[in-house]
Amino acid sequence: MTEYVKLVIGEETYKLPVIEGSEGEKAIDILKLRQKTGYITFDPGYANTGSCKSAITFMNGERGILRYRGIPIEVLAEESSFREVAYLLVNGVLPTQKEINRFSVLLNDHSLVHEDMRTFFENFPRMSHPMGILSSMVNALRSFYPYLHQDAEEEINITVTRLLSKIRTMAAMSYKMSRGHKVVYPRPDLSYCANFLNMMFDTPVRPYEIDKEVVRALSVFWVLHADHEQNASAATVRNVGSARTNLYACISAGVSTLWGPLHGGANQAVIEMLDAVVKNDISAKHLVEKAKDKNDPFRLAGFGHRIYKTYDPRARIMKQMCDAVLEKFQTSDPLLDVAKELEEFALQDDYFVSHHLYPNVDFYSGIVLRAIGIPTNMFTVMFAIGRLPGWIAQWKESMEDPNLRISRPRQVYIGPKETEYIPVGEREMNIDK
Ligand code: ACO
Repeated sequence: MTEYVKLVIGEETYKLPVIEGSEGEKAIDILKLRQKTGYITFDPGYANTGSCKSAITFMNGERGILRYRGIPIEVLAEESSFREVAYLLVNGVLPTQKEINRFSVLLNDHSLVHEDMRTFFENFPRMSHPMGILSSMVNALRSFYPYLHQDAEEEINITVTRLLSKIRTMAAMSYKMSRGHKVVYPRPDLSYCANFLNMMFDTPVRPYEIDKEVVRALSVFWVLHADHEQNASAATVRNVGSARTNLYACISAGVSTLWGPLHGGANQAVIEMLDAVVKNDISAKHLVEKAKDKNDPFRLAGFGHRIYKTYDPRARIMKQMCDAVLEKFQTSDPLLDVAKELEEFALQDDYFVSHHLYPNVDFYSGIVLRAIGIPTNMFTVMFAIGRLPGWIAQWKESMEDPNLRISRPRQVYIGPKETEYIPVGEREMNIDK
């Protein structure tokens, strides 16, 4: 039986239906609100707005739960590979051995990037941020791989495979080119993650030795980033897709959104913050006080989350990975010591406790990336490669929704009422007023 809530406006009472998700989360369906009442809702940042129904990822921010297609993130990080998780997110089910083999063959077949794309890479200024390059190049893929005009499902499958496979080739290519080094091509004998590492670090003078544990660490890093329901970049991908824009352009927009320091760019911001702490001998107390100061725009990078009001389950795994990776290399990282000290200090601070601010996935991820040799300006690119299956899954789900409408929020207009047009010669100087 449908549950309703009552909305009272003046003398009128309106009944609004309630929809319930499979985990018991309830939403008031306001689809007919404006039509029935003339009112709209006001929710900047959409913190209370469900923009879609989705069967991909479940999060519970109060209990620190994250599941892809129902499977807990902890289990996937332990048992699965990034390739398998990508398949799970995009196709909705875990692949059989035959399916995973077929998927690997496809990823291999589509791993090369059109040679003409090198001209684009070569012409970006040397100091370009790799996220800007990645966003442009993903968009450019559409020009190199135009619409095939074949069976729609086949078209989507090929586009999805191309994106998943070529993104790591393009990311490694941009790194090599930024260093002025020879590009390394993908190899058919290497796994998804090993191939990426090899393309990044192999050089003619120092062949890259593939280490199983490093490959595993990268795979877990990407598994942890693979989806996060309606985050800013996934919502962007859906928004752009709602205009029926091609998938390459949607993903390019997702990459641009992720670049921001409040989103994926936080992993770079964390390392820069920790680095500054070490170099300038800043105390944890000073940094926490600065983050609390409302007159200072500074925020503790890698802390806080729109949904998680407890420890981010991904951060917990990432923190353990920091220790494991550093132990493997039998080395230490002063940034990890600072990060741990900062976390301990912040979690005892009243402001952080009362605001429910805990480390998010970005707080420890940079330390793992540093340990495996990824340069800081590539951190957000690493996040983007990991998030790609999620973006694709979100886009695919929205395209399969028979009720999909173009995303078009409303606004509360606060500008001038109808205003007289003054001919240019009769206008007063605004700055002298
Ligand atoms: N340091 C200090 N104070 C913080 C922080 C922080 N990192 N994060 C939130 N707050 C405070 C805000 O000042 C605000 O305080 P107030 O209510 O007293 O004014 C309160 O907590 C709520 O913050 P909002 O900005 O309203 O929370 P919102 O949900 O909009 O933002 C966000 C979440 C963007 C992640 C925020 O916590 C933040 O800026 N964190 C730092 C950047 C970061 O780590 N981003 C990565 C997010 S995870 C990801 O994308 C993978």
